[in-house]
This record gives sequence, C-alpha cells and structure tokens, in this order.
Amino acid sequence: MEKSIPTTSGKLTDSRRKFIEKAGLAAVMGTFGVAFFTSCSSTDDADPGNGNNTGNPGQSGGITVSGNTIRIDLTIQTRLASSGGWLLIQDARALVANINGSYVAMTSVCTHSGCSDSWSFANSRFTCTCHGSVFDSAGKVLQGPANAPLALFTASVNGTTLTVTK
Ligand code: FES
Repeated sequence: MEKSIPTTSGKLTDSRRKFIEKAGLAAVMGTFGVAFFTSCSSTDDADPGNGNNTGNPGQSGGITVSGNTIRIDLTIQTRLASSGGWLLIQDARALVANINGSYVAMTSVCTHSGCSDSWSFANSRFTCTCHGSVFDSAGKVLQGPANAPLALFTASVNGTTLTVTK
C-alpha cells in the first residue's frame, strides 16, 4: 500500500513523489551536465596539453626563481630553443618566448582583470584565454578587453642560461 504525503494541492502518492523527484534530478543533471561539459570544452580550448605551463619552477627542470630573477637552463628547457617556443612560469608569473632567436619576457598578470595562468602563444602574440585579450611581443595590446600593456622584463642569454629579471 502506498503512503500519501500532504501537498498544498492535495495528496501525493509515493510513486508520484518518486517520479517527480527523479524528473527534478534529471533536470538538475541536465543543467549542470551541460555546464560541466562546456567548462571541460573551454579548458580544452586553452590547450592545456601543450606542455608550456610550468606550475612549479622549483621542481621544473632547469628553472630556478630567486627573488626577481628567473634562470632558465636552455639545455633542459629545450622548448625555448627554437622560434615560437615559449613558457608560462606560473610561480614567477612570467611569460617567456623565443621570437626569431631573440628572447622576450613579460608579466603573465593580464592587465584586464589579473588572470595569470591562462595563456596561449602563436605568431609572436600572447593571448590571455580568460577573456581573449591579445598582446604583441612587446606587451602592447592588440585586442581588448585589456587596455594596458603587459609589463616587460629583461631577458638575456649567457651561454646556455637565459636570465629573466623582473
Ligand atoms: Fe586577461 Fe581578461 S584577464 S583578458
């Protein structure tokens, strides 16, 4: 025998209540499921698999951070050896790239709203994937919403060591 629970519009049987609960759960899963997969999709758009992010330079081969100085061993961080290679050094909040054999370095703290760990790099341009601002190799804004340049750091090579000074 089914139990009845009171509702404002009368009585609701257990089977009807269970149906409504399942329907509600399905609606919630549908809503959040879409959001979840959309989120995963946009993460994929940020190209997390490109291997350019170094979240912990202290443990990432060839990168040491001491105060405002970042030293990168180019024999270990070989991705910087050729033009188009780049690094996002998250702990130091720095972007470093090889552009036609010259190195550029600048802050990874976007001047739009401060994202510092969502960047891509192509055609000598850094793109903050938080909201799409694009900066040239001198940190100048090419496309908003950012409206101020990225602060440049100095980058110099001595032997096989690239030193970035913030
Ligand atoms: Fe970089 Fe918004 S924080 S574009």
